[in-house]
Amino acid sequence: MRSHYCGQLETSLVDQPVTLCGWVNKRRDLGGLIFIDMRDRTGLVQVVFDPDQQALFETANKLRQEFCIRLTGTVRARPDSQINKSMATGAVEVMATELEIISRAEPLPIDFNQQVSEEQRLRYRYLDLRRPNMSHNLQFRAKVTSAVRRFLDDNGFLDIETPMLTRATPEGARDYLVPSRTHKGKFFALPQSPQLFKQLLMMSGFDRYYQIVKCFRDEDLRADRQPEFTQIDIETSFMSADQVMAVTEQMVRGLFQQMLDVDLGEFPRMTWHEAMRRFGSDKPDLRNPLELVDVADVLQEVEFKVFSGPANDPKGRVAALKVPGKADAISRKAIDEYTNFVGIYGAKGLAWMKINDLAAGREGVQSPVLKFIPDAALTAILERTAAANGDIIFFGADKASVVAEAMGALRLKVGQDFDLVSDEWRPLWVVDFPMFEEADGRLYAIHHPFTAPVNVTAEELKANPEAALSNAYDMVLNGVEVGGGSVRIHNNDMQQAAFEILGIGKAEAQEKFGFLLEALKYGTPPHAGLAFGLDRLVMLMVGASSIREVIAFPKTTTAACVLTDAPGVANPEALAELHVAVTVKDS
Ligand code: AMO
Ligand code: AMP
Repeated sequence: MRSHYCGQLETSLVDQPVTLCGWVNKRRDLGGLIFIDMRDRTGLVQVVFDPDQQALFETANKLRQEFCIRLTGTVRARPDSQINKSMATGAVEVMATELEIISRAEPLPIDFNQQVSEEQRLRYRYLDLRRPNMSHNLQFRAKVTSAVRRFLDDNGFLDIETPMLTRATPEGARDYLVPSRTHKGKFFALPQSPQLFKQLLMMSGFDRYYQIVKCFRDEDLRADRQPEFTQIDIETSFMSADQVMAVTEQMVRGLFQQMLDVDLGEFPRMTWHEAMRRFGSDKPDLRNPLELVDVADVLQEVEFKVFSGPANDPKGRVAALKVPGKADAISRKAIDEYTNFVGIYGAKGLAWMKINDLAAGREGVQSPVLKFIPDAALTAILERTAAANGDIIFFGADKASVVAEAMGALRLKVGQDFDLVSDEWRPLWVVDFPMFEEADGRLYAIHHPFTAPVNVTAEELKANPEAALSNAYDMVLNGVEVGGGSVRIHNNDMQQAAFEILGIGKAEAQEKFGFLLEALKYGTPPHAGLAFGLDRLVMLMVGASSIREVIAFPKTTTAACVLTDAPGVANPEALAELHVAVTVKDS
């Protein structure tokens, strides 16, 4: 139906006839002429209707915003004075000769020139996606997936599909369950990831696998979390962690080069311990210059229990965060707000120190905890943080995990509040994670239970699980975990040991993962892999602040689809057939 896209029109086409299909973006009547901006997925072009062509002009007069039209006309150059530099096609316009109104549009339920709530945008998502920036995001995403496929295909990876109706794969979230009609009272789980199937594919000898695949996790949603999201999922055999990191880094660097003309350079590596120590996070945003400094050792003897307690506890931590030059800018009220903010992360308080005059010693320091800190400790803190006049230092003292979380979050917040975050790309690999973390008196896998430890036997792992490091790696970009993976356990003893440590008994392991334990017996190759969060990667690349901006039909933060009104109530016959009874309790 069309000869060209709107966005393709340029001066080389002057005097040529073109036929365009698209929508009326805007209509203006000026001095007896009708102008419209016509839009399709490639962009906008201006069209002019001349009143001398009476029938055509009458039809044009009926045009309203978002009518779908087909239009033929001649491209002409705009006079120099009328070139619109803010429009890609601003050097030309189309003089209309024919116009067909294909579909009329009622006045839109949302006005895109106004602030529209996200709920409204999602309810009318098909209209929201007509907006040029949303259209751009999805077109960009399509180019990214296509480039990813090309790279992986060229590097010998095979695209193999894995089931959606399956058993639970533990990635740390709740499962979405699907009742079985044919197996009374039984349920499939939608995959949290294809983890176990991709490992089985390695056991089958496929060697290099990939899949761009939906994963489902019922977890609390955030700007970078959706209940269904897409992974670029990768698994390899006979490759070391370094080799997997090298090939996936090459893929991401290539993507940035190709799509954004950005050279990310070689990604630095940082151990998990260093990341937690300096940034209080396992996904540090290196664009933010602030760093945590440990001061527990100089506070062990102080009488102030808030500090000396954690300072003497092997699982405790006392960390300082210096914000250079902001002593005056951060008022008592702001300090109270930051104290409330760290409270969200479990911190019981937020001690602080303003450095007014270093040369004046104690007299030059203002702090509610100054009286508790002896001279030697004060000097050590000021030296270690390299404090200068005008600085403010915050302190967090608690269990190490609380300090990292609270002070790590404070670091990001202060960085944002004072615009300290630089405008650059800062990728890195985080490596050498602990295998397990303790919470509520039991151990959890930091990655997933199939991750291999570094250099220990199954017996050694069982004897001292908390000391073990995992052979895992996360790719982090600008403070976002874009991907994560590991070398996998490839023998049955080690896998059983990992389950045991996680409190998954023999019977439960057999019931849930018997197929994996069985498969591990028949000549399993060493294997390792990684999965990227495609949504997150694209979000960063287009500069969006939520993955919802790069997903065509995302869920709201309460995990609902307001467009289709899902989830919905099931009809009683369907439920009976599925052997499911619904008992809704008011909560
Ligand atoms: P992991 O759980 O780290 O690893 O997930 C891999 C990547 O997927 C993205 N991601 C998400 N994106 C949007 N919404 C979510 N709810 C969500 N959850 C995760 C992140 C993350 O880095 N099977 C392993 C991978 C492996 O070991 O090979 C896995 O799923 O960007
Ligand atoms: P308090 O003695 O509880 O009034 O606390 C004195 C100062 O120490 C206040 O500035 C508190 O915000 C701060 N504070 C209390 N608990 C902690 C903590 N766990 N970590 C850091 N500072 C704290």
